[in-house]
Amino acid sequence: MNAVTKTYRRGAHEVHALRGVTVGLPRGGFTAVMGPSGSGKSTFLHCAAGLDTPTSGTVHLGDVELSRMGETRLTELRREKAGFVFQAFNLIPSLSVADNITLPLRLAGGRTDRAWLDEVVRRVGLGDRVAHRPSQLSGGQQQRVALARALVTRPEVVFADEPTGALDGTTAAEVLGLLRQVVDAMGQTVVMVTHDPVAAAYADQVLFLAEGVIVDTVRSGTSDAIARRMSALGRSMAAV
Ligand SMILES: Nc1ncnc2c1ncn2[C@@H]1O[C@H](COP(=O)(O)OP(=O)(O)OP(=O)(O)O)[C@@H](O)[C@H]1O
Ligand SMILES: [Mg+2]
Repeated sequence: MNAVTKTYRRGAHEVHALRGVTVGLPRGGFTAVMGPSGSGKSTFLHCAAGLDTPTSGTVHLGDVELSRMGETRLTELRREKAGFVFQAFNLIPSLSVADNITLPLRLAGGRTDRAWLDEVVRRVGLGDRVAHRPSQLSGGQQQRVALARALVTRPEVVFADEPTGALDGTTAAEVLGLLRQVVDAMGQTVVMVTHDPVAAAYADQVLFLAEGVIVDTVRSGTSDAIARRMSALGRSMAAV
């Protein structure tokens, strides 16, 4: 994305959620986005994924420019090129695991490539659970279903907003390990917003946002190094 700004109007006020963000997310890489609450992380993710339109600037997803697209085309494009994982698993309770996973394909009017579905299910470790309902699964297993659903359309990018926010430490580590694996083994590009330095350490690079601007990038950081960078950011913000 290039020189992206996003201004929300709240009554008589303007909120500058993004103030000129220029960044390229490496294809086949795992990028984490961190920053204090309200720094613009979710807005960044939403603009990058075409869930929201920037006020100014340009956004490319793969080789397509999103920023000037109408809502209908944008919806199509999101279905084709973006996969989503959120803190809430957003599964449909009445559908089986397999039907939840293939839902985006059916919504897009495509057919299910059986071999690819099997491969995705195997990679996320749900092989023996495809006939279950979401309510019969643990939180970690439900998030694996959400990840499989995000991967099944072979998206350009998987966007994750606090994907481990609702999980305990051990289960979170499993889901993060899986995200790492889809990057390493499948060449999938992943962008993940997180508050957690331990989660961010799974990524190749961490972008730090503060007040709508990318203020730093850390490559291959340990969770300690990332935590130190975060608290320094918190201190400098408090000093303003
Ligand atoms: N739809 C909206 N309307 C008005 N203001 C908004 C809207 N969405 C976000 N904002 C404002 O934009 C700023 C950035 O919000 P954003 O949700 O991107 O932050 P965040 O970094 O994801 O925060 P958190 O860590 O709490 O999730 C905040 O000041 C927020 O209040
Ligand atoms: Mg957020």
